[in-house]
Parts: sequence; C-alpha cells; structure tokens
Amino acid sequence: MKNKNGDIWLDDQGKKIQAHGGMILKHENMYYWYGENKEGPNVKSATDGRKVDFIGISCYSSSNLRDWHYEGLVLEASNDPSNPLYRDKVVERPKVVYSKWTKEFVLWFHYDHDDYWIAASGVATSKTPTGSFELNKIFKPNRKDSRDFTIFEDEDKFYLVHSSDFNKTMYISELTDDLTDVTGLYTKILVDQEREAPAVFKKNGMYFMVTSGTTGWEPNAALYSRSNHLFTPHKLIDNPCEGQDYRYTFHGQFNYAFEVKGNVYIMIDHWKPDNLRDSGYSILPVEIIGKKKRDLRIKWTEEPFGGELV
Ligand code: DGJ
Repeated sequence: MKNKNGDIWLDDQGKKIQAHGGMILKHENMYYWYGENKEGPNVKSATDGRKVDFIGISCYSSSNLRDWHYEGLVLEASNDPSNPLYRDKVVERPKVVYSKWTKEFVLWFHYDHDDYWIAASGVATSKTPTGSFELNKIFKPNRKDSRDFTIFEDEDKFYLVHSSDFNKTMYISELTDDLTDVTGLYTKILVDQEREAPAVFKKNGMYFMVTSGTTGWEPNAALYSRSNHLFTPHKLIDNPCEGQDYRYTFHGQFNYAFEVKGNVYIMIDHWKPDNLRDSGYSILPVEIIGKKKRDLRIKWTEEPFGGELV
C-alpha cells in the first residue's frame, strides 16, 4: 500500500496514522514522527465546535520515511480533571528536540483551553525518543503568548518560533542548552502580520520561514519570508505555492520543514474541520532557486517527497 499526498496515511499495520500538526526528528539513523492523535469524535468547543478532546501525542518510527511503525502514545491525556493534561485541554503541534548536554529528548507543545486563551507552551522530557515523556512545565515563554510554533536549530542553538501577541506577531525565543526553557533573549518578527503555523529552514546562509494566515482550520494562502540573520527583520516575499489551488495551500496548512540529503521538504496537514480525525497529510519538496527575488517554490505532487526518496 502506498500513501498519497492529501490522504490520511496508513502505518505498516494498515492503520490510520494519527500524528497531526507534527514533525519528523532524525536520531541515530531512525526517523521519528510525532503528532497529535485525533482518533476521537469532534466535540463542541468554545470557538467553533471543531475540536477533538486530547488523547495523546503519537510517535511513529521509520528507517526510510515511507514505512511507519506505531510506537504508541509518548504523552497521554489524563482522566483526572485536576491534572493539567486532562482530556478537555488542547495539546497541539508537538515538536521534539534532543539535547546533547542532558542527553534527553524534549517535547514542546502548544497548551490551551478550548477557547485558546491560555496560549502557553508545555514541556516534557524523556530519556528515549519513544517516551514516555514526563511533564516538566507549562508556562508562557518570556511571559508571552505561544500558540502555533516550531523549534528551529541553528549552529547548536535552538529557538522557539511562536505566534504571539494574540497571533498578531511572530516571536523567536532562544532556548537554554537543556532545551526545557527560554534564556530571555528574544525578538519580534512579522510584526502585526497575523501569521501562524511557522515552518523554518536555513539554506545557502539564508533563513526562510513559511507561515499560514489565521483562519482556524480553513486553508488560506501561505507566505514565506527571508532574512540574512535569524534575529533581524524577516522580509515577507510571496506565496511559495504554485499550481492548482496554490491560494489554499493545496487545501492544507504547512507545518514543519526538514532536510533529507541536502533537500528541504515540508509537511502539510489537510485538516477536515468537521471530522478532524480524518485529516490528511502531504510531504512536498521545497525548491530553492538561488539569486531570484522570489526564490522559493512549492509544487503539488501526488507522491510524498515528490517521489524522490522512493
Ligand atoms: C490553526 C492552527 O494552525 C491549528 O494548529 C489549530 O490551532 C487551529 N487553528 C484551531 O482552530
């Protein structure tokens, strides 16, 4: 069985992969895909009635980025209403990083109530990539909002890139070496641009950030920005998507950028707002065209990775 971009993907047992809003981490020649398990019914929520109660963060492993093996829930919802991870909470966009200093895996997630007013970060740690992760803290990094986010590594330093100030402005906040906290050094970029779902990568010495607009689960036009330095203003350039439905990010929302063999790929969630558990996935190649003003191109292909890894 072959997974196709846009569909819900199946694991090596033929079961639906439940790893939405996720990311892929490479560690010791294995790939680990972490994401939100949404295998439950949509329930009423304060915002739009489009929510699945928190179940847990899934982990899948693969040696080839094509065949995924379910490793279980690495962080689980609690049935105890006094527990911060009680199932009525929102736990989104998990990102896992590895600290060379502590030799621990650190899981960050967006933590919220169903009204999205907490806008906090959750941090959990584990000695192994397959968990289980133990909750370390839930906090506001530098006392700022953190909703959609990613974590980006640059020359051995890690940064939390988070939609903040009621989703108006993106912040880049430096993490401590143990990766469980912020150092206090941060900057604001894309001020008042209302962007979310940041995916960041560095190529040819330039920093690129792909973001979506803020229309809930509904698709909108992606934009990318570019900068020579992480901490100086990032210039918004254009929509990187080309081809049919490019204005709707191919009916999805970009999520996470990563490199394999020098090529950049980007993950998409194809949200199904009225039945979130059936939301699909895509992984598309990102073309970087040097020395052009509009120097990023993302085209739709039915084959994950544009068929390049097969
Ligand atoms: C858009 C975000 O990108 C998603 O992660 C999720 O928070 C939805 N909004 C909720 O409406």
